[in-house]
Amino acid sequence: MSHAPENSVAAPAQISPEAVESAVQAALDAIAAASDSASLKAARAAHAGEGSPLAKLSARLRDVPPEKKAEFGKLVGQARGRVTQAFATREQEVIEAETAARLEAERVDITALPSRARVGARHPISLLQEEVADIFVGMGWEIAEGPELEHEWFNFDALNFDEDHPARQEQDTFYVDPIARHLVMRTHTSPVQVRSMLERDLPIYVLCPGRVYRTDEFDATHLPVFTQFEGLVVDKGITMAHLKGTLDHAARVLFGPEAKTRFRANFFPFTEPSAELDLWHPTFKGGARWIEWGGCGMVNPNVLRAAGIDPEEYSGFAFGMGIERTLMFRSDVQDMRDMAEGDVRFSEQFGMVV
Ligand code: DAH
Repeated sequence: MSHAPENSVAAPAQISPEAVESAVQAALDAIAAASDSASLKAARAAHAGEGSPLAKLSARLRDVPPEKKAEFGKLVGQARGRVTQAFATREQEVIEAETAARLEAERVDITALPSRARVGARHPISLLQEEVADIFVGMGWEIAEGPELEHEWFNFDALNFDEDHPARQEQDTFYVDPIARHLVMRTHTSPVQVRSMLERDLPIYVLCPGRVYRTDEFDATHLPVFTQFEGLVVDKGITMAHLKGTLDHAARVLFGPEAKTRFRANFFPFTEPSAELDLWHPTFKGGARWIEWGGCGMVNPNVLRAAGIDPEEYSGFAFGMGIERTLMFRSDVQDMRDMAEGDVRFSEQFGMVV
């Protein structure tokens, strides 16, 4: 007798309890193996459809001798009933599993708060200030700080400003009431030079970054509150060549290897000789050109004396630059007010450094 192999959907030639059981078993195995509605549909077509072994066995009932018809009819009918029932049960399970999977996939966690607070970024002025400090710390210099509310003596007198120097005028300087206390919002970071000389042992190599105040307009190229970095070296045998070499190095680190600096004779009360420091770069907005970057010079002997240092033994150099101006030229910022207004979209352009 031919016997259909397990799981085969080939039609058996004859009705027999074994053939029926084999067809049922193949159907039940296929049903159990169907893990989604598509595979279940395919299994239904193969094992319960018109061409299925059970359907074919059912068709053979005609050929069964009359005395066996009832027995085989019942056999096949029950077999089809079991398979139909198994399909219905499995279909229920598959639908439930698929629904659960879809609900899980489409789930919205209404208990989770949207993240409204965006992570901020450091301000580009703070970042540049640190970058400048790093250049000098990398050369072994120290960072020095002084108060923003400063005594007039440190801000002007000790720096060799005349009694009637125009910068002392109230047009430039924020004086603090009562005026007899001689307190000003420092107009530059140069008073930190004097504080450093009084507080530190020689030799001195310090960089002083910090905020300064002037009664300037708030416009595209001026801010009444801005940031400077001041450098001061006091040691034996210091010359202007040391100053030039130091500034060239800083310019190249900040602006790239093609950056150059030059001195133009100028006057500052606290340096002698004094120079205006220009910076050249091939990619400045408007083409390769010189821009005015800051002031510098050899520390005036009067300043050394005011700090108790013998100018016969020691000499020094100093320089002062604006951080906002530096950022303007380096990153081609058109309007300085963007640096003061605190719009996070401006800061974000300089990287999300926290
Ligand atoms: N303090 C000056 C200013 O704010 C800049 C400056 C010039 C600083 C020359 C210096 C210097 O140390 O030597 O305009």
